[in-house]
Amino acid sequence: MPTGSKSSVNGRVSFAYNNDMNLLIVNIKKLVQVEKTPRKWVAGKEMAHVECIENAYLLVEGERIAKFGRMQELNREELVQRFDCLEEIDAAGRLLLPSFCDSHTHLVYAGSREIEYMDKIRGLSYEEIAKRGGGILNSAKQLRRATEEELYETAFARLEEITGFGTGAVEIKSGYGLDVESELKMLRVIRRLKENTPLLIKATFLGAHAVPEAYKGRQTEYVDAIINEMIPAVAAEELADYIDVFCDTGFFTVEDTDRLLNAGMKYGMRAKIHANELDCSGGVQVGVKYNAVSVDHLEYVGEAEIRSLLGSETMPTVLPGAAFFLNMPCSPVRTMIDAGLPVALASDFNPGSSPSGNMKLVTSFGCVNYKMLPEEVINATTINSAYAMGVEEEAGSIAVGKYANFYLTSPIPGIEYLPYAYGSHLIDAVFLKGRRM
Ligand code: NIG
Ligand code: FE
Repeated sequence: MPTGSKSSVNGRVSFAYNNDMNLLIVNIKKLVQVEKTPRKWVAGKEMAHVECIENAYLLVEGERIAKFGRMQELNREELVQRFDCLEEIDAAGRLLLPSFCDSHTHLVYAGSREIEYMDKIRGLSYEEIAKRGGGILNSAKQLRRATEEELYETAFARLEEITGFGTGAVEIKSGYGLDVESELKMLRVIRRLKENTPLLIKATFLGAHAVPEAYKGRQTEYVDAIINEMIPAVAAEELADYIDVFCDTGFFTVEDTDRLLNAGMKYGMRAKIHANELDCSGGVQVGVKYNAVSVDHLEYVGEAEIRSLLGSETMPTVLPGAAFFLNMPCSPVRTMIDAGLPVALASDFNPGSSPSGNMKLVTSFGCVNYKMLPEEVINATTINSAYAMGVEEEAGSIAVGKYANFYLTSPIPGIEYLPYAYGSHLIDAVFLKGRRM
């Protein structure tokens, strides 16, 4: 007989993090987003389809998904032969979905910015607040005063929070340091988070987030400093997977972005940029030129942007939380999908424009504000956002060999209920790398 334990989702079991642990989840009402052959992304009309198995089981071996199928096909005898130790969980009619991949966050930060929130309520624009030394520069001031330990602890707590919200992979940017030492401090914190949590984490260097006080009026010199000092220092410690630039009106120009992405590329950092949040600024085109893994925000997208993205390997990524919080126009997601493009959604979790990392809420914004279907928001926050952060081979769907990163819902009627019940948590159990959190 195999040794192991049986439990239900309600009776919380905890066990040590152990790669030899195997897990069988039975009586899953709907196993959502299954893939026999994993895809890179889902585009156009295909986004309205999510492959599911009704009344299913899922087998996890160590950290990875080993097998899944219909309950009628479950061969317990075979499992008894195969495993010395197998924990069984009865999902009792719950849905099982792959964890969200949140491909755009700034969740390492110090302090908070609710004073600016009040300024916004009183009518100041994002650009006006930035000009008054608020915005990103305010966070930079606070970040420089914080120790690495303080930053690590607050960011760790945010990771715990988003884990509970169903996120299993997250991209995190620097960009509140804006000098060599402070940018390195942020990126070292991200590296420690990578080493000490089961979430899949990717790090992005965003030195070109804003021009710091010390370089006021000397933007080109700051770009030179990023290229000549920061990028080599970041690369020397292998701290970043990607390079980002806030390419927009009033921030960094297309020419600055071109130089920065070119420099990053030489050090093996692929582009992943902020573009077209405030204007049709040419950000999308320069991103595509450098084969960016994603171009993000996209409130301003016209025909030229869509043409440039079609046929590229760049994922258009929309951040509905930021548009909601700043009360900005919504990205034309419907037009992009109807044109045959893929779209990813991410939280943009940051203290200024989106102080929330709740990806389930992002799916509700996707449906209500962008007229996306529930199936489309599921694709946009799993497979497509996994691609947008370079983890599509490890996460983003229920596929054999991928990490066992998933969650069990509360007993709900179907997938549509998740974005519909926008204020309800609806997540009963979270599993990362095969371990119940
Ligand atoms: O993605 N747009 C640029 N950067 C962030 C905002 C960061 C901040 O305001 O602190 C964003 O929205
Ligand atoms: Fe952002």
